[in-house]
Amino acid sequence: MGDVEDLGGRRRKAVTKESDRAAGRTARRGAPPEPAEDGEQELLRSREQLQKLSRRLIGAQETERQRIARELHDDIGQTLSAVKMNLQSIRRSAGASALASKIQESIEAVDQAIRRVRDLSVALRPSLLDDLGLVPALRWYLDRQAQKGGFRCRFATDDAIEASSDVQTACFRIAQEALNNVVRHSGAHEVKVDLHQTDDVLVLTVTDDGRGFDVQIAVDRVGLDASLGLLGMRERARLLGGRVTVESTLRKGTTVRARIPMAGAADG
Ligand SMILES: Nc1ncnc2c1ncn2[C@@H]1O[C@H](COP(=O)(O)OP(=O)(O)OP(=O)(O)O)[C@@H](O)[C@H]1O
Ligand SMILES: [Mg+2]
Repeated sequence: MGDVEDLGGRRRKAVTKESDRAAGRTARRGAPPEPAEDGEQELLRSREQLQKLSRRLIGAQETERQRIARELHDDIGQTLSAVKMNLQSIRRSAGASALASKIQESIEAVDQAIRRVRDLSVALRPSLLDDLGLVPALRWYLDRQAQKGGFRCRFATDDAIEASSDVQTACFRIAQEALNNVVRHSGAHEVKVDLHQTDDVLVLTVTDDGRGFDVQIAVDRVGLDASLGLLGMRERARLLGGRVTVESTLRKGTTVRARIPMAGAADG
């Protein structure tokens, strides 16, 4: 039997029923107001404030990542490329002298630094996401993770996905975490990613055929150790009015499904 966990916390509205109001009136006339109601309203208010803060933090983090990714790529990456070209021309004039092998070593070190800078920049924020959008960015990321994790992959999507940039970013980050988990924990041979638009909702599904895990235990552990991935996926979706479900069966595999309203959350 599969282990299904709804990671989507739904917001509760501050609804005051007529009967509650009547009770409040009675309470005001006689005893002081019911502390339970005040406490609940206070709780709702602070939960809403926390959500706003969370949304701002995630937004600020994306902007910062974008800035650092560009600087790494454009600034440091290009400086390193210029150094490499200079070294190559010095090596040519060094001929077969003793210096030539030292210069060659330096060229290789610079090459390594260029690759590292490119990887870091891409990990922070793939420019594909900004330049070409969610579908090409996801396809590219899936291929990259498949190579890294040594699994086969399949990507199915609609031709045109018309989501706001916030929704695209959230969807990409959720897929990124799900695929990181596949690489790190699943030992899967095959991974399927589906991205579809149904009515006003964007649905992303990442399915692996790996070892699976007990979702309830993993969710209960959140906050007790360093595992933040499942929580982060949930927060990303929830802040846009969506939700994430994780279904996993031991020795069969795991499915992560995110449903995000295309319009994203209105308030903020
Ligand atoms: N696709 C998967 N296959 C098997 N186990 C998984 C999978 N996804 C998650 N898990 C299990 O659930 C746990 C919690 O995942 P979560 O992403 O929250 O944390 P993490 O990956 O360990 O750390 P991080 O905070 O860096 O993401 C993992 O440690 C792993 O045991
Ligand atoms: Mg993780």
